[in-house]
Amino acid sequence: MPAISTDRRHLLSLESLSADEILLLLEVASSFTEAAAGRVTPSTKLDGKIIANLFFEDSTRTRSSFTVAATRLSAQTLDLVGSTSSVSKGESLIDTARTIEAMGVDLLVVRTREAGAPAQIAREVECSVINAGDGSHEHPTQGLLDLLTIQQRFGNDLTGKTIAIVGDVLNSRVARSAIHGLTKLGVNVHLVGPTNLVPKTFEQIATGPGSVEVSYDLDAVLPSLDAIMMLRVQFERQRGNAITSDYRSQYALTVDRARKLPPDAIVMHPGPMNRGLEIDSEVADDPDRSVIFQQVSNGVAVRMAVLTRCLGGS
Ligand code: ASP
Ligand code: CP
Repeated sequence: MPAISTDRRHLLSLESLSADEILLLLEVASSFTEAAAGRVTPSTKLDGKIIANLFFEDSTRTRSSFTVAATRLSAQTLDLVGSTSSVSKGESLIDTARTIEAMGVDLLVVRTREAGAPAQIAREVECSVINAGDGSHEHPTQGLLDLLTIQQRFGNDLTGKTIAIVGDVLNSRVARSAIHGLTKLGVNVHLVGPTNLVPKTFEQIATGPGSVEVSYDLDAVLPSLDAIMMLRVQFERQRGNAITSDYRSQYALTVDRARKLPPDAIVMHPGPMNRGLEIDSEVADDPDRSVIFQQVSNGVAVRMAVLTRCLGGS
């Protein structure tokens, strides 16, 4: 089994994990897929543990799947949603986290608008902290579920595979976690989108043997891909970077474009999707290519693996 070296109490980024640590988490997540779906009882239990979801940005998949994962492992959960918490009265994120910890909670799952806030909270509390998405920085459990989904199609050794991440890369924490995870496992990544949303400087952020190449021509890269990950245009994060009227004609995964992919290439999207903008419904729902709902299912298994890593378990 590969060695574990970083502080296992927290999961704050994929950048900070080694390839071996990522592979071990994926192996554990894979062993949890049946239990995640409720078909078997997991052999690991987190009885008596309390997990708090502190979400200061909206979520459907991440928050719910942490709750499902914790429930499968027999842990208890509590939900604190930013808009209905005392943060609206001016309480700081750190005071909020320390307040919840003071109630005896074992782990905080934190989503924030501010990049770096989960790491800051982790420095201020004794309990475990998992980053569930911080601004445009990272979304490490999303990165892991993306990797697990790719492994399920192509096998555990992803060395030499090629993926395109397309669209609003600049504002995407999903893209950053994916880039770190994929390149550490030897996958070559094309980042594709308009110049204002895919700066050339992204070629420098790879942290592994896989390469990162920025390209502005989606049609040119399609025939070489094993997987394509479409990103949502994040209108809520645009700072004068609004998309232009030709965005769809240049960068959407339309039915015609999807025909240019190799026959066994898969289509991914982290969700939520802007159907009819970055991806056509026919492509998103294509039963042969689309793994979008498999990504969601894998999110439960990955979060079970991460919760067990951070909290131990009997
Ligand atoms: N749900 C993902 C995130 O929170 C992707 C997105 O919102 O576009 O980062
Ligand atoms: N993929 C993702 O993080 O979805 P939510 O924003 O719905 O959690």
